[in-house]
Amino acid sequence: MAKSKRAAQVREKLVRDLITSYNMEVETVLNFLCHSINLDGVRAEEIKKSLTAEIQSELSHATLLGKRIKVLGGQVPGSMELKARQASLQAQEDTTDVEAVIKGVIEAEEAAIEQYQKIIELSDRADYVTQELAIQLKGDEEDHRQLFVGFLKEYTRLRGNI
Ligand SMILES: [Fe+2]
Ligand SMILES: [Fe+2]
Repeated sequence: MAKSKRAAQVREKLVRDLITSYNMEVETVLNFLCHSINLDGVRAEEIKKSLTAEIQSELSHATLLGKRIKVLGGQVPGSMELKARQASLQAQEDTTDVEAVIKGVIEAEEAAIEQYQKIIELSDRADYVTQELAIQLKGDEEDHRQLFVGFLKEYTRLRGNI
């Protein structure tokens, strides 16, 4: 009895954390969409292409999380239940400031990685299916982060030459 009560508590906690990740993924989709359209200039083109491609990836993350939330007895939240947290990825006045967007993307990827790490630890020995999902998504976010860290390297070098 005590064991099943504990399992239920872990499941509830996992659902809450999966919803947090879902929220982050959906917000990422919105802000990547925003910058993939808003950015201007020759130097923005590659970043816009990458952001457009990543929208699909983040949307598929949100879908996988949503399905797991449902399986665990939770419910996917509607838009009014979501929280906006990505202050560094808001629309900006200078639409040629690609570097600020790159930094905002890295920050968002790092926040996602941290949240998946939390789920990996919480689900350890308690829910291996959720853990496997969180491991897979964390790996994807690490790839995204790496891509944008590479972009930032190049931009920092370019800025040094101006
Ligand atoms: Fe993602
Ligand atoms: Fe990502």
